[in-house]
Order: sequence, then C-alpha cells, then structure tokens
Amino acid sequence: VVVIGAGGAGLRAAIEAHEQGARTAVVCKSLLGKAHTVMAEGGIAAAMGNVYPEDGWKVHFRDTMRGGKMLNHWRMAQLHAQEAPDRVRELEDWGALFDRTPAGLISQRDFGGHRYARLAHVGDRTGLELIRTLQQRTVALGIDVYMECTVTKLLKQQDGSIQGAFGYRRENGQFVLWQAPSVVLATGGIGKSYKVTSNSWEYTGDGHSLALQAGATLVNMEFVQFHPTGMVWPPSVRGILVTESVRGDGGILKNSTGSRFMFDYIPEYFRKETAETEEEADRWYTDKKNNRRPPELLPRDEVARAINSEVKAGRGSPHGGVFLDIASRHDAEYIRKRLPSMYHQFKELAEVDITKEPMEVGPTCHYVMGGVEVDPETAAAKVPGLFAAGEVAGGMHGSNRLGGNSLSDLLVFGRRAGLAAAERATSTTVPNVADAVVAEAAGEALAPFERDGGENPYTLHAELQTAMNDLVGIIRVAGEMSEALERIEALKVRAKALTVEGKRPYNPGWHLALDLPHMLRVSECIAKAALEREESRGGHTRDDFPGPREEWGALNVICSADGEDVALTRQPLPVMPADLAEIFEES
Ligand code: FUM
Repeated sequence: VVVIGAGGAGLRAAIEAHEQGARTAVVCKSLLGKAHTVMAEGGIAAAMGNVYPEDGWKVHFRDTMRGGKMLNHWRMAQLHAQEAPDRVRELEDWGALFDRTPAGLISQRDFGGHRYARLAHVGDRTGLELIRTLQQRTVALGIDVYMECTVTKLLKQQDGSIQGAFGYRRENGQFVLWQAPSVVLATGGIGKSYKVTSNSWEYTGDGHSLALQAGATLVNMEFVQFHPTGMVWPPSVRGILVTESVRGDGGILKNSTGSRFMFDYIPEYFRKETAETEEEADRWYTDKKNNRRPPELLPRDEVARAINSEVKAGRGSPHGGVFLDIASRHDAEYIRKRLPSMYHQFKELAEVDITKEPMEVGPTCHYVMGGVEVDPETAAAKVPGLFAAGEVAGGMHGSNRLGGNSLSDLLVFGRRAGLAAAERATSTTVPNVADAVVAEAAGEALAPFERDGGENPYTLHAELQTAMNDLVGIIRVAGEMSEALERIEALKVRAKALTVEGKRPYNPGWHLALDLPHMLRVSECIAKAALEREESRGGHTRDDFPGPREEWGALNVICSADGEDVALTRQPLPVMPADLAEIFEES
C-alpha cells in the first residue's frame, strides 16, 4: 500500500494498512511531522459525553448534517459520528495527552454548530498532538516513510486499475517509482489556489487533480470553507488561522463602532426576540445551563458572511477585518492556559497581547468540502485500487464543515481507507510497471526544463490566486465566475509554455511548475461547479441566487476529466433511510 500524504488521514491509513499485514509506505512532500493537520488547533469532535452526558452519536450526526445543510453523504456522516469516540480513545491509548475535566476525563470544548461541548482538545494544539502521536506510532511500527517526495503521476494497468505512483525526491530531483496495487490519497486541500488562506504550501490540490487525471470523480467542488477568523495584519501573516477555540472559549466579535454585530445576523431558528440590549442578549445566549450558544458560535459559513458584510459596510477594523476580543471575557492566566498558541502567535507576529487587546481577524480560505467521490465504507474511489481519506475526499461535510469534524473525519476514514487498501493489496500480486510508462512519466516531469524563454511559474501562480480570491471567493456571481474561468483557460495555455531555471536538486521553481497544473485543474473544478449550482448553500453563496433551492438540495455536482478540461454532471444525492431521517424530527 502506498499512502500519499502524512497528515492525520495518511498516517492513520498507513498504521491500519501495516497492522492488516500489508507492506506499507508513506510518501510526504514535507518532513514527517510537518503536516498541515497541525493547523486544526481547537480539537477533535467526538460525542464522548464527558462534559454533557446527554451527547451521543445521533446528536453529532444531526449537527453535522445540519451544518452541511443536508448535502452530506448521510452514511459518511453516520459512520463518522459513530466511530469518532473510539478513534479518540485509541489515540489516547497510543500516547496522546488530552486536557482533562475536573473529574479526570478527556476535556471537551464548545465549537460552532455543535449542540454540546464535544471537542476533545490539547489546549489549542490538538492537531499537533494528533500528528505527534500518529508519527511516533508510524515510526515505532517500522513503516517506510519517504520524506520530501512529491508524486507527479498515478500509474494504471491496462484494465484501468492502479499499479503505483511516480514522483521525485525534492532533495536531489531523482525519480522514485512505487509499484503497488493500492494507493491511498491523503493529500489534504486546495487553499494555495487562493491568495488569503490558512493553508500551508503543500495544499495545492495535487491529490484532487491526480485522482481526476486517473479517472476518478470529484463531488461538490464548489463548496470551499472560509474560516471566519484568520489574521489580517501584518500583511506577511494575512490568512494564518485564529482558532475557533477563541470563540469557543467565550471570545466575541465587534465592529469598528464597538457593536457586537453577530446579534444582527442571527438566523430565525436561533433568535431570542425579547432581548433589548446587548447585555441582555449576551446573558441569554451564553446561558450554558440551558445549553445556549452565543451567535459567534454559529456555523462558520454564517459567521464568515457576517464579517464580510460588516467590512463591506465600512464598519471594519483598520486593516480590513473585525475585532475578536477575549481579553474582556477572561483573565490573562485562563487565556494563556487555554490558548497558548494564539497568545504566542499574536505576540510574536503582530505585537498584540491578546490578554489585554482585541485581535484583528477576517475570513481566510481554510478547507474544501468537495473532493474525491468515495464509497463510505471503504473510502474507495471510482478507480480500482485508489482510495481517498481526509480533506481530499468529498461527501462527508456536505456544503459546510463544522469545526473539529476534520480531525475526527481523518481518523475515522483514514482507518477505513487503510483497511480496505490492505485487503486489496494482500490479495493481489504487486504490479510490474513497464519501462515505457516510467519513461513517459519522467519526460512529463522534466518538460519545464526543456523549454526556453517561457514565463516563470510564480507569475502565473500569483495571477491564479488573485482570480480565485476576487472572483470565486465568499460571495459569488455568474459574471465574475465566468471571468475566472476565462482567466484559468488563458493560464492553462501559458502554463504549458513556462520555463524553469537551474538544476533538479531543491528547485522550488520546478516544484511550483509541476504543482501549477494541479492548482489550475482544481480551480477550474471549483469555478465550474460554483457556476453550475444556482443557489446559495453552506460555503457557496451566490449574490444572484440567494438562499437554498429545494431542487438543488437533492443534487450533487460531479466533476470528471474530459481530456485537458473538466466536465460536469448532476447526480442525485443518496437518500437517507427512514430511521435516520427520524432523528431530524427531534429538536
Ligand atoms: O479553528 C480551528 O481550530 C480549526 C479547526 C478545524 O478546522 O477543524
């Protein structure tokens, strides 16, 4: 089994595949331990009932479906809610040190859209602890890890099934061939196609694109999550995540007039009509005994849109965001204990002491809900031998992901992908890749060195990021998305002619030249799918089609490769069985 990606999903898949008896390798673009999973700071959502005993998988399932505006694959959401608690306990068995409740249980904190406090956490460094734990286990089990290696192509047999992957070592530019009947994609997201993003450099959508090229399908790529709170100042750190835990632990949002504007954006289902003042509303909405939640903890899509509207209306902070204030809600000791990374991040990067002053924050491209269409039970893609888990897979989160559901998603489906990949690998002979196939893949990878006089990849990347940010961002309209598609088409042509200088070892220009076609392909998927879906739902807001539309609530948009282009089809959403549908009749 070859696992591409060493974030939470990749490492969990590799551990499972190894434990099932398959010879397993993990390939990662970075050093082991540097995965973007560490940026999921606030916690792992799992209905363990440690803080609210009345919590259970059905409530978590319902919250997840409602958060995704019912477009989630119901079976994925069900498996996720049912299996997440076991995955957290297993992580603890493997050495993860979670924060505790006074009674000594794993502590669970509040997050947006979750009815009960259910995020198991380690301060605001949960992703880091998860990676540390899985990394240690991977090494202890003796699983082969190929660090600083990039896969450029998935290889297939005559019958269309997977026979391995081809890539290069960043250190020396030498090529590597992995021959394997099972490949698990765990490559994360697409954020580097946007100018303002919380994502790290690895998030170029290469897994989505490799899958598409290999014949797999992508589902609902129009749904991109803009996390409400990224840093906005100074410019060098714009987009870096400000964890939702700040709001989960009581932080409030204010505009330039000092008003707690989220009270003006409360949807009908959440509203308390009788509050006359902000103080009264605050008392009512923060009454935990009656299980109420402040409006800052509405789902991310709703908070991000509210911030966007405030800034557009001229009520933003000096650097184009809004204010996030935890200093007036808790003492310094509490803040430093619960939010140590945020304390240091603002102190070091922005010279702001969050125990004394508010932070300036604004939306940042954080997560793609769309991804490889997979079978919920096995994480298998449409191509035999190809599996996908974590952010690169689609369906689980519908049109909007709840915070904390990504860490649990990658553990639940990473394990399932590893299991199914191993089952296939241990019952199949290892394929033999022909020399001609290897030579073709090598030729494609070296092509940017062979050309003269073309543009450099950095210019094209910057233009793509601007187009996606400005034209396929939080608020979308048909004209702008069509313009984005025109720009992407032009960039595709220019990308074929770009040139890289220098040699193969540690050549970032070459790496970007190979990543750029992936970013262009996923951007085309996002823009085309977003133009196709004529409604507003979750992370997809159309100014020209406000609000959800019933017919679209039953449809997925599927992307497939059509030569060098992307083709779209509409596909009916899988229908939820009656016994699960009943759960939504309860309040
Ligand atoms: O805000 C956060 O800590 C991010 C968590 C997540 O995206 O799940």
